[in-house]
Amino acid sequence: MTRATAATSATDIEFHYDIGNDFYALWLDRTLAYSAALWDGIGPDESGEPALARAQQAKFTRHLDLAEAPAAGAGQAGFRLLDVGCGWGGLMDHAVGGGRVAEATGLTLSRAQFDQVTAHGRPGTKAVLEGWQSHRPERPYDGIVSVGAFEHFVTAATPADQRITAYAWYFERCHELLRPGASMSLQTIAYDGVTGPDGPMGSFVTRDIFPGATLPRLSEITAACDPYFSVTALYSSPDDYARTLRVWSERLHRARDRARELVGPQTLRRYRVYLRACETTFQQRAATLYRIGLRRRDTPLPLLPRR
Ligand SMILES: C[S@@+](CC[C@H](N)C(=O)[O-])C[C@H]1O[C@@H](n2cnc3c(N)ncnc32)[C@H](O)[C@@H]1O
Repeated sequence: MTRATAATSATDIEFHYDIGNDFYALWLDRTLAYSAALWDGIGPDESGEPALARAQQAKFTRHLDLAEAPAAGAGQAGFRLLDVGCGWGGLMDHAVGGGRVAEATGLTLSRAQFDQVTAHGRPGTKAVLEGWQSHRPERPYDGIVSVGAFEHFVTAATPADQRITAYAWYFERCHELLRPGASMSLQTIAYDGVTGPDGPMGSFVTRDIFPGATLPRLSEITAACDPYFSVTALYSSPDDYARTLRVWSERLHRARDRARELVGPQTLRRYRVYLRACETTFQQRAATLYRIGLRRRDTPLPLLPRR
């Protein structure tokens, strides 16, 4: 394995994310956020797209807080944000539209996402069709967010004893991409009650839905980031993902006729099974959802020796 082959390939990313923006728009909310929302303060009886959109915006705000973007009107002039794995650009839109960030750059490997942000993104936001591995900006950023992309940074084929080194490469690159004293946020799913894709459902999701993706464990994340960042916050919120998946499933069910026209019956069935399977995974605590705040160390520490 080389560093270049450790992560999900662009072909595997396209397999999942380039099915069609119209299909995703049927069941995601209006921000097109495709990761767990933050449901704090949203009552259990509130459902549907308006509640989901509010919960997604609350999640965007949490990540801007963790990346220490200034409050709106508090000297944000010039704050430059990098969104690693920007999807369809919802967080960048929220950050610039809300006045906390002057300029947001989003990296994606999906052509459909890149085209969407390029055609419809708010002034001050831009997408780049490139991975973090090769991204070389003219100057360092003031903050980084990455939501729901870390699951693509190592593959199931990466040997167990090389996973921490592969994840550490991401944090090393973020250290290089940030100015001294800056912060970043990370949202990722991680194995919790199990150590790998258990049983037929786990292998279905990693083979037929997200080829080339795999989940980290918390111990791998902390070992990999420790040389470059100190942890400022850590939230574990499996119920946030279970509830998000439930709303996505309900919305896809309601839009099933149009979805079948767009992607055909087999793909529709695959997605319906995947959303339900993942909801159960979080309910049973086989996986959890982490949101982590990290502050850049001025001087990197050595990576802990592997036992
Ligand atoms: C599940 S989507 C999340 C999108 C968005 N952050 C959100 O929450 O809606 C994962 C994103 O990670 C991106 N991605 C995967 N590997 C990447 C890499 N090596 N560099 C940059 N982006 C990557 C994909 O292109 C996609 O935009």
